[in-house]
Amino acid sequence: MCGIVGYVGSKKIGSRLIEGLKRLEYRGYDSSGIAAISEKQLQFTKKVGRVKVLEQSTPKAYENATTGICHTRWATHGAVSEANAHPHMSSDGHFALVHNGVIENYTQIKSFLTTKGYTFASETDSETLVNLIAYHYDKEPEVKDGSRFLESVRKSLLHVEGTFGIAVISELYPDELVCARRGSPLIIGVGKEEHLIASDVNAITHCTQNVVYLNDNEIVHLNKDDFSISTISNVSVDAVIQTVDWDTSEAELGSFKHFMEKEIFEQPNALENGMRGRFSDDGSTAFFGGLNLSPQELQQVDRLVFIACGTAWHACLIAEYLIERYARIPVEVEYASEFRYRNAPLDKNTLIIAISQSGETIDTLSALKEAKRKGYKTLSINNSVGSSIARECDGGIYQHAGPEIGVASTKAFTSQVMLCSMLALYFGRSRNLSYADGCEIVRALKQLPELTKKTLETTEQVQKIAKKYAHYEDCLFLGRQMMFPIALEGALKLKEISYIHAEGYPAAEMKHGPIALISEQCPSVFLTMNGEMFQKTLANIKEIKARKGAVICIAPEKCDLPKDAVDDLIQIPDAHDILLPILMSIPVQLLSYYIALERGCDVDKPRNLAKSVTVE
Ligand code: M6R
Repeated sequence: MCGIVGYVGSKKIGSRLIEGLKRLEYRGYDSSGIAAISEKQLQFTKKVGRVKVLEQSTPKAYENATTGICHTRWATHGAVSEANAHPHMSSDGHFALVHNGVIENYTQIKSFLTTKGYTFASETDSETLVNLIAYHYDKEPEVKDGSRFLESVRKSLLHVEGTFGIAVISELYPDELVCARRGSPLIIGVGKEEHLIASDVNAITHCTQNVVYLNDNEIVHLNKDDFSISTISNVSVDAVIQTVDWDTSEAELGSFKHFMEKEIFEQPNALENGMRGRFSDDGSTAFFGGLNLSPQELQQVDRLVFIACGTAWHACLIAEYLIERYARIPVEVEYASEFRYRNAPLDKNTLIIAISQSGETIDTLSALKEAKRKGYKTLSINNSVGSSIARECDGGIYQHAGPEIGVASTKAFTSQVMLCSMLALYFGRSRNLSYADGCEIVRALKQLPELTKKTLETTEQVQKIAKKYAHYEDCLFLGRQMMFPIALEGALKLKEISYIHAEGYPAAEMKHGPIALISEQCPSVFLTMNGEMFQKTLANIKEIKARKGAVICIAPEKCDLPKDAVDDLIQIPDAHDILLPILMSIPVQLLSYYIALERGCDVDKPRNLAKSVTVE
C-alpha cells in the first residue's frame, strides 16, 4: 500500500530517496512522486507506473538537494493519475506533503478552504491537508519563526478526522522536515548528520540501522542534526532509539527470480528460526518469552478469539482445529474487519490473539484496539518487530521468519501455522495433554525443517503439472478438517497471483452447491490426509471424476490412493498430523507460483494488491 520516504541531511537525496522508494515497491502501488527543495525552490515530479519511470524522469538538479520527500500511491480517493499522485503542493506553492491513510472529513475541510481562496489540483483527500497547513501558517504570523512550520502542521492535524502518516517540507524552511502519525506507521532513521523517515523500516536500512518507531498522535520536527518528538496536543515525548536486527541482504533477491520463489525456498530456515529456543529442556512442551501471561492467567483462559485478515486468517483457522484438539479450549476465528464492528459478547476470561505478518494491517490493528478498549487481554503472532500490532498487544510471539517481500504470503503463513501448533502444545500441556503426548509433538515439530526441505523436492514435478493446468480459468481446492483452511489458502494464492478464479471448500460441502461448477473446464485440487477422513475424501474425488472434472491430489506418501483415482498425484513426506498443514502448503504455493509464471503474471506485484493493507 502507499509508502513514504523522507530525507533531511548533509548528503544528496538522489540515491537515498529513490533507493528507499524502490524498497517499498513490494507493498503495491500505482503511481509515485518526489518533491525536493532544489535551488531554494520546492520542485516536484510525479509519474503513473513503476518507480523506475519516476527515477528516469526526475530532473538531475534534484540530485544536489538535501531535503526531500517521496511516495508510492495506491489509489483510494480519485483515479490513478499524475494529478492524484503524491506529493501534493499547497496552492500557494510553499508546502509539499505525502500522506498515507484517509482524511475522513476532507470534504468539509475542502469546502472551508475553498471559501478562503485555496485551490485544488487533485481529487484526493491528502491535498486538503497540505492546504490546511498553508492556511494555518498564514493565519498565525505571531508564532516565533523557528516553530511556525511545526505549529502550523500541529494545528492542522487537530482538525483532521481519520488516519495519517505524513511528511511535510517547505521552501520557507529548506533544512527541515515535519512528520506525524495516527493509525499509519512512521519510523525515523537516525544517521550521522542525516535523518530519514519512512512508513516501512525496509526503506531506511540501506542508510542506518538505528530507528525510532513513532506512536499514534506523535509529531516530529527534524533537521540534519536533531529531532524532537511531541504529541499532537503538544506534550513532549522522549525518543527511544532501537536497532534493526535483520540483515538488509535478506530483503534482496540473490539468485532467485522472484521474492515469492525465494521465500518459498526459505521456509525450512524460517521454520527453524521460529522454533529456536522455544522448547522446554525436557522436550515435552513449548514456551514463549513474550507472552506476559502468569500461570494463573493461563489457567483462567476459557476461550480464545483469533482475529486476522487474508492468509493470516487461514492460519487462525488451523489454530482452531489444533487448540481445540490438543488443549480443549474453545476457539473462535473472526475476520478482523467484522469483529471490529460486531458487538460480540465475550467474557472476562477470553483471550484475543491477532495474527499478522506485517503487524500494520489496519483492520487487525483496529480490531485489536477495540478488544483492548473493552478490557480483554491481547496477544499477537507477528513477523515485524516494532510494528504497530506488536506494540499495541499485551504480549506476543515474534515469528522470526525474516522480511517477506512477495505480496503473496508464503513463509510467513507456514511460520504462523507452526507457531499456532506450538501454542496448542503450550496450552495443552498447561491442561490435559500428557507428558508423553507433549514429547511426541515436540519430536515431530523438530523434524519440520528437514521435512519441509524434502517436500520442496516436489518442485520439478509441480512445475510440469502447472504447465498442464495453467490455461484453465476456474479451479476448486477441496480438503477436510485441517486441510480445509489449506484449501482456502490454495485458492487465495492461485487467484491473487494468476488471476484464475478459484474457491476453497470443505470437501464434503462440494455436494451442496459447488459441484454444479464441475466439468472438463474446472479442475479440482484435493488435499488428502490419511486416517479416518481418507475414505470419505476418496468418495468426494470419485464424485468429481464421475463428472469429468480433472483431479490433482496432494497426499502423504503412504496414502493408499487406488491407481488412476486421480489425474495427477503430488506426494509429500509422511509425517505427524500436526505437520501436514505446513507440508501440504508447499506444493500448493509452488503450484500457484508456476501457474502464474506460465500465464506471464507479475508474481511479486500482482495487480490491485498491496503487501500491507493500511486503509480500511
Ligand atoms: O500483514 P498481514 O498478515 O496482516 O496481512 C493480511 C493479509 O492482507 C495478507 O495475508 C494477504 O491476504 C496476502 N496477500 C495473502 O497472500
